[in-house]
Formats: sequence, structure tokens, C-alpha cells
Amino acid sequence: MSFDRRIKIAPSILSADFANFGAECQAIEAQGCDWVHVDVMDGHFVPNLTFGPATCAAIRPHIKGVMDVHLMISPVDAYIDAFAAAGADVITAHVEAGPHVHRTLQAIRGAGKKAGLALNPGTGLDTVDYLLDMVDLVCVMTVNPGFGGQKFIESQIDKVRRLRAMIGDRPVHIEIDGGVTPITAPLVAAAGADVLVAGSAVFKGGSVSNPAPYGENIRAIRTAAEAALKAA
Ligand code: DX5
Ligand code: ZN
Repeated sequence: MSFDRRIKIAPSILSADFANFGAECQAIEAQGCDWVHVDVMDGHFVPNLTFGPATCAAIRPHIKGVMDVHLMISPVDAYIDAFAAAGADVITAHVEAGPHVHRTLQAIRGAGKKAGLALNPGTGLDTVDYLLDMVDLVCVMTVNPGFGGQKFIESQIDKVRRLRAMIGDRPVHIEIDGGVTPITAPLVAAAGADVLVAGSAVFKGGSVSNPAPYGENIRAIRTAAEAALKAA
């Protein structure tokens, strides 16, 4: 995984057909996505449940590129090795998931993976101040985590702008997760985000047997985001 700040589209398989994850991952990659975003929820840190490391391991062979695993679980440390063994390339934990986030990030990098840190919408940037040299990605949640299809929270655009300035020359991605569409993507791209997670906006209108809409949706988000960068 080399570092660059080009716009990357990362469909969240939270909006895919859960009975068909392998084929869905193949379909979105064939339709031009960059990363595959995998949402793990525990029914405790967030009010929803999805799946764990066994499912991640099962879908791994169906993903050629980057498998981006977003852990919405607490506690998190005890499960890092399992998600690393499942083949995640990026493992993102929440800054709100426990008192020892520094240790969590050490454990992710210690497992040989790229380390991501996610911030809920109500969490300030002071929490990442002393962690920026030990992360590969900061995920700014633009919805409250737990569900797809929620409304983008506009106040987070300013957070992205300030985070981009804090990151400076460090090779750290800014990922946006929640409510990303061709309307909101340009706003966060202009503010400095480079990884755009999108669930409902990518999967709408398509299916494994009719995957062309996935490609159209991915292109629409990418084109809108790249246009905002050119205009800046
Ligand atoms: C929310 C998840 C997101 C979600 C995004 O807790 O982390 O990845 O699936 O879904 P959309 O793009 O529909 O807001
Ligand atoms: Zn996510």
C-alpha cells in the first residue's frame, strides 16, 4: 500500500447483500472502487451488530485491493490480532473505544497493519494531537456510527479542514465515513479528505446481477470530488 492523496472511493459493504459478500466485493472492485470498507459493529459501542473476524477472513480472498476494516467495537485491543490474521490492510479503531488508544494504535502497527483512528462527530481534534505520528489514517465520522443511510453532518467539514492543517506533511490519509454522496463529496474533498467511504450512495440501484449502477455511482462521487479539487 503506497501513500498518495488522490481521491479514493471506498464502498461500505454495510449496504451490500449480506448473503453475497464475496460477489459484492468482486462487483464493486470490477466497477472501479479503490478500497473495500468493512464495518464491524458490536451492539455495545454502537447500537447495531454486524459480524466479526471470521466473516472478514471469508471475504478477504474476494478482494484484490485494500481491505479497510472499521472497528466500531469496545473493548477493541483483544480483537486486533484476529482482524489482522483475517487479512485487513487497514484497521481503524475509535478514539472513544477505550482509555488506552495509544496502546491500541501500537498494537495495530505491531501486527503489521496500517493504523486508523476514527472520531465520532462529537469528538474534538485535541484527542488526536499526540497520536498523529502513529497513525496512517484518521477517519472523520460524518454521521453517528451504527447505520448506513443517515444524513451527512455538515459541522464536520470544518473538522476536516483543521485536521488537514494539523497533519501537514505527514503521510496520513483523511477518510470520511457517513452520508457521502456526489453532493457532499466535493465539500470534504475540498477540505482535505482523500478516502471517501460510501455505502448507500454506491450500492443504490445495483446488484451482483446488475452491477453497472455501482460503477455509475462510484464515478459520480469521484468526479464530483475531483472537480472540487481542480476548482480549488
Ligand atoms: C456507519 C458506517 C458507515 C456506513 C456509511 O456506522 O461506519 O461505513 O455504512 O453508510 P452511508 O454511506 O450509507 O452513510
Ligand atoms: Zn465505516
